Amino acid sequence: MDVEECLKEWEDLLSDYRRLETVNKDYIAKLEEVGELQSQCMKELEHQRYRINVISGALKRLETKGVTKDERVANLEKEIMKRKAMLHEIKATLPKQNSLYLRIILGNVNVSILNKNDKFKYKDEYEKFKLILSAIAFVLAVLNLYIDFRPLQLILIFLLVWYYCTLTIRESILKVNGSRIKGWWRLHHFVSTVVAGILLIWPQNEPWNQFRHTFMCFIAYISVVQYMQFRYQSGVLYRLKALGARHNMDITIEGFHSWMWRGLSYLLPFLFGGYVFQLYIAYTLYNLSYHPEATWQVSYLAALYLLLHFCNMYTILRTLRKKTQGGLKLRYKLRAIAYRLSNEVAVLEQKWRQNRVETKSE
Ligand code: COA
Repeated sequence: MDVEECLKEWEDLLSDYRRLETVNKDYIAKLEEVGELQSQCMKELEHQRYRINVISGALKRLETKGVTKDERVANLEKEIMKRKAMLHEIKATLPKQNSLYLRIILGNVNVSILNKNDKFKYKDEYEKFKLILSAIAFVLAVLNLYIDFRPLQLILIFLLVWYYCTLTIRESILKVNGSRIKGWWRLHHFVSTVVAGILLIWPQNEPWNQFRHTFMCFIAYISVVQYMQFRYQSGVLYRLKALGARHNMDITIEGFHSWMWRGLSYLLPFLFGGYVFQLYIAYTLYNLSYHPEATWQVSYLAALYLLLHFCNMYTILRTLRKKTQGGLKLRYKLRAIAYRLSNEVAVLEQKWRQNRVETKSE
């Protein structure tokens, strides 16, 4: 290119730049509009919540006064439950403040994922991350069962510290984005980080040599359980997507129960097996704490494994009780998720059709 051509190119580029400026202005205006719509949604959401609380309070007062509950009241209660489930789903589409833990680790960066599909993708990635790391842990644990090599043991334990630490961050992000993950399962990973940290500084003495084999078996076992959990969670995610794609809000109580228990009944014995294993580890460590060479790590780990056993047992039994007793509430939650998903699928389909029409006309 000579100078003349360069100048001509530059002139040409100017008109392209004007186009970019117009698109960017449009984009900024839309972003502002989105911000306004978000705060409007939040206000309306608060309004709905406030009025629902007033109605629920009035119903409770009527009940305490001894007013008999007729069909209209029962229907109204069901409608309130449905509306609450829908409000939860609407809330999940709005940006949220980071939890204290995330603010400490990440600062005030926005981790809200506003698109449901991206949320599913993030959850899917989280499950895959757990699966890959469990596969690596399984291989390392099996190797450690056959090879007595300290650096290999340290690699596995260090991997566990990093893995559980990462899980706590990912789960906090999931929570900000509306996941219903129970507090204990998140706390469980904080405790597991501490357990792995203590294991890392446990000196290589006789109690460790006696415990090593049991620990490696445990890691191999929970890696297999993790694979089963992955299969179960992927199944739930897949069925939820299928339910949403059917554009059908109705699911019978029988359908719902088979929907919910599918996959769970074969996972549960393995989960309980894991908890019994944790109790066995606590017992083994307790016995080892009387060993003359035992350091403080042994008794602390015994207490932590006992804590893990009891809290896991308690949480899983509570989850199962809720799943069997809270059928109606859960059904509405499920239907709300499926409904929102079906709306988004419809919006995506509409966008896709629009794009096709536009490209055809071009
Ligand atoms: N880790 C991470 N997320 C979990 C979880 C866990 N252990 N248990 C449940 N969740 C999530 C679910 O994916 C769901 O997320 P969403 O709201 O984003 O869709 C939410 O929490 C609510 O789940 P819930 O309906 O209460 O349970 P579920 O049917 O998804 O799973 C179990 C039930 C029992 C299978 C599951 O809790 C589990 O696997 N627990 C055992 C964990 C454990 O003990 N690990 C150690 C093994 S030794």
